[in-house]
Amino acid sequence: MDVNTGFILPRTGLELRNRAVLAAITNKQSGLDGVLSDAEIGWLHRRAEGGFGIVTTAASHVHPSGKSWEGEMGVWGDHQLPKLTELAEGIRERGALSLVQIFHGGLRAPRSLTGQQPVSASENTEHGVEEESRGLSDSEISDLVDAFAEAAERCERAGFDGVEVHGAHGYLICQFLGTKTNRRDDRWGGDLAGRALFLREVVEAIRVRTSDRFLVSVRISPQIASIGVSLSDSIELAGMLADWGVDIIHISCWDAFVGADDEPENPGTLTRRFRRAIPSSFPLLSTGSVWTGGDAEFVLGEGADLVGVARVAIAHPDWASRLASDDFDPARPPFTPEHLLDAGLSPVFVDYMRGWKGFVTDGRQ
Ligand SMILES: Cc1cc2nc3c(=O)[nH]c(=O)nc-3n(C[C@H](O)[C@H](O)[C@H](O)COP(=O)(O)O)c2cc1C
Repeated sequence: MDVNTGFILPRTGLELRNRAVLAAITNKQSGLDGVLSDAEIGWLHRRAEGGFGIVTTAASHVHPSGKSWEGEMGVWGDHQLPKLTELAEGIRERGALSLVQIFHGGLRAPRSLTGQQPVSASENTEHGVEEESRGLSDSEISDLVDAFAEAAERCERAGFDGVEVHGAHGYLICQFLGTKTNRRDDRWGGDLAGRALFLREVVEAIRVRTSDRFLVSVRISPQIASIGVSLSDSIELAGMLADWGVDIIHISCWDAFVGADDEPENPGTLTRRFRRAIPSSFPLLSTGSVWTGGDAEFVLGEGADLVGVARVAIAHPDWASRLASDDFDPARPPFTPEHLLDAGLSPVFVDYMRGWKGFVTDGRQ
């Protein structure tokens, strides 16, 4: 399978110019009120110009109570609309489809940023958080479902093609999915259908508030032991997502070349395991440790329809368009700060990347 070939999303008929997806990349460049900065808009426009089929924004909180870090993009208020519109229009002009990744940090949204005690499926804490979270009440959960839907509607008004609902990496939706973080005995907990109800209601509420052509992708983590997200549950959940009318399922593998953590005897990659379990027509996007065109072909060969990248696209804005040339061999980290500034990162973003092990020459090694 060639990453440079186009792809048609079956439910909407929307066409992608290729199978390369810029995955969500937090970059800390938004203002205090969640408004996009020109630097953040510029960095994403440059990746759209660089040929990606889909450009996804950084994780963006849908409600002020869900903010997890400084400089985080927000989609919870109309004051954010003008810059969102500028971002969406520029991505479209450059030929890519656009998704806003929407999320709520849950237990990882600290009081120092939100002014309130963190909330989650149940009372929870984890290493490094400032304060224990409290379990949400039934009506608060419904209010947050509405916040996701209202945020998605705002994204459509701004001109985005869709949203990616962030159900991965241990944030609020993932906290509902996990058996360790969700110990509720009401309808929002219990078996997988109960733990997935929050996600299901979010997807359904988005469908009600947005038009038929608006895309809904859902990103999940195949497995996170500390939260109680198991591979077998995630595979079953993927089948449910296909039934809920989701347009794309995005599996965040971190390393798309390895198999399941807990089943070393089963050599199948995570991508292959999901592909086998979901209908062949349900678009599967897989992300994790892809660097070269050959890596991308491997992931497509394992059954993904689309391949996501993050780190390689931070250093190589034109990664997607350059894949078409046989001799493209993208340089690997560490990168000098000058290289990253040239690639369209602001000093704030370069500084953030210094915290990612081995990425910047003068960063964490
Ligand atoms: C700097 C940085 C920021 C990230 N921010 C997000 C984010 O906001 N939301 C998300 O779902 N994943 C985020 N990720 C994870 C990436 O989307 C991706 O899944 C991961 O980096 C593995 O892909 P890669 O090997 O191509 O980098 C981030 C990764 C990096 C390196």
